[in-house]
Amino acid sequence: MADFLFFIIKNNYSFGQCYPLIPFVLQSNTFSGLFEGQNVITLQRVPSTNEYLKEELSKSTPLTEGTVIMAVDQYAGRGQKGTLWQSEPGKNLTFSMLLTPAFLDPKHQFMLTAAITLAVVHWLESVLGVVVKVKWPNDIYIGDKKIGGILIENILKGNQWKSAIVGIGINVNQTLFPDAIREHTTSVKQILHRDCQIPELLTDLCKQIGQAYFSLKAGRFETLLASYEQRLYRLGELHPFLVDGVKVAGVLDGVAETGRLRIDFNGHLVDFDIKEIAFVI
Ligand code: BTN
Repeated sequence: MADFLFFIIKNNYSFGQCYPLIPFVLQSNTFSGLFEGQNVITLQRVPSTNEYLKEELSKSTPLTEGTVIMAVDQYAGRGQKGTLWQSEPGKNLTFSMLLTPAFLDPKHQFMLTAAITLAVVHWLESVLGVVVKVKWPNDIYIGDKKIGGILIENILKGNQWKSAIVGIGINVNQTLFPDAIREHTTSVKQILHRDCQIPELLTDLCKQIGQAYFSLKAGRFETLLASYEQRLYRLGELHPFLVDGVKVAGVLDGVAETGRLRIDFNGHLVDFDIKEIAFVI
């Protein structure tokens, strides 16, 4: 860890604030303040905040739930399906939060994904004032452009959920993107036409995640899943998908409690995990 140039900004954030955005979160304001006073540790330069948090977890000193590792310059960020998450230094939100959802049966892992994803969606809508969608399972989309992504890594011990490393990357003040992704990528600045303060955005997003997390403890999975489904990019629309390298047209029908994506192919419902299907954008 010696090569991490370290400056620690102690940032007290409160999870007490409630945004009146979705029923799932609205029901949860009795959970106010449970995470109040947790630390945000800001690293100047780090390969990946998820990897850093994982390494810290393996050390003997326990980390408090809600701890956030934020990177100014994350130079080898990781995305879904082994992809890279590229981010211009100092321009974006790139952070990982530690959660210990031991209250959830590991068979309900997707419920954590849904809760975190919805928190990001509603926080971003409050920042941008435009509709935000989820490209299953947890890409954050504005129209046909990706503005952020989430990588949740779960650590299980036997049948017990030990911890979840919730990595979130949101394009904030970056306006130039690599050729390969430019056409389908956007940022907060490209929508608002002004720079935003990263620390303020982080504080508000953490509050929103706190609310969603404590709602999750109440176990209202049906409401949560329904809210998540409502936000799905291309829900109910006919589009091509890649299945085993073959393009097939189907209608996105919804998501199962397990998180599998359900597609309607001419009246036949088939469900897929993330390795089995890809969107054609
Ligand atoms: C994706 O869209 O594929 C997921 C992207 C997740 C990126 C974030 S940035 C902070 C955290 N650290 C990582 O290495 N990845 C996640």
